[in-house]
Amino acid sequence: MGLKERLFGIIPEEDRRRISPHFDVIGDIAIIALPENLKGYAPVIVDTIKSYRHGIRTVLGKVENVSGDCRTARYEIITGDTTVTTHHEYGFSYRLDLSTVFFNPRLASERRRVTSQVQAGESVLVPFCGAGPFVIPAAARGASVVAVEKNPCAYRWLLENLQVNRCNGRVTAVCGDASDTALLPPQPFDRAIIPTPYGMDAILGILAPCVRPAGMLHFYTFKNRKQSEELEQTLTRAGYHVTTRRRCGNVAPSVSRWVFDLRKAGHPDRNTEISGNPG
Ligand SMILES: C[S@@+](CC[C@H](N)C(=O)[O-])C[C@H]1O[C@@H](n2cnc3c(N)ncnc32)[C@H](O)[C@@H]1O
Repeated sequence: MGLKERLFGIIPEEDRRRISPHFDVIGDIAIIALPENLKGYAPVIVDTIKSYRHGIRTVLGKVENVSGDCRTARYEIITGDTTVTTHHEYGFSYRLDLSTVFFNPRLASERRRVTSQVQAGESVLVPFCGAGPFVIPAAARGASVVAVEKNPCAYRWLLENLQVNRCNGRVTAVCGDASDTALLPPQPFDRAIIPTPYGMDAILGILAPCVRPAGMLHFYTFKNRKQSEELEQTLTRAGYHVTTRRRCGNVAPSVSRWVFDLRKAGHPDRNTEISGNPG
């Protein structure tokens, strides 16, 4: 039974219907989003969540959606005393402060799908790496990873997480702008995993030349279905073999997060490098 069903008979029916049945859990923190006029129900919702999710210590109310360069949301603490937590995902742990660092627990299986393609000995580039949820599983599979993150708070948690998960020897962490390729150590990479923030699609054209011929790119982007189909055509025309195009989450009524798994052409002349916004 989910949250909404558990509130049956506790909250007037008309209001109960407007409460989202979903809430995210990151470590021991639950995040709820309540419309302004239902905020009075926060205490009873917190009690209900805590009654069946026993590990929850903090409940945050989302005040503002993810925005800005650091892709952080704004929260108010409804119960508990910290926004710092440790999240466990497929045997790895990620410590972070939700007030300063982006983390999306709904992408766990997608991260697993992509990082399980990484082979021991590969060199992998992960720009926009946040607290490390792509970096650490890739390094644990025996890859050498270059991880780039611009937000100094996320970067500090990344360093801590590399240590806790014992993979700092395999990762070169860079605090800086992912579009500044001068910050990167010698290339080319075998693979790039690019969890692109909204509006930064031009990064594909900047980073694709850093990947070797026949290397792989996993490119995330926000599009509606038609735009994603058009992007697939553009990428194919540019010489990429699109091995996967799949939706991995809704972000707005018709806009989804899409991932494109792209194999570069085996010969450098066969890829027209993408310039500007690819779609
Ligand atoms: C969508 S989040 C993805 C974080 C992480 N990969 C994850 O899955 O949790 C994007 C990340 O890119 C960082 N970022 C935004 N602009 C950047 C830039 N120009 N260069 C490097 N990192 C940037 C943000 O601080 C944020 O941590």
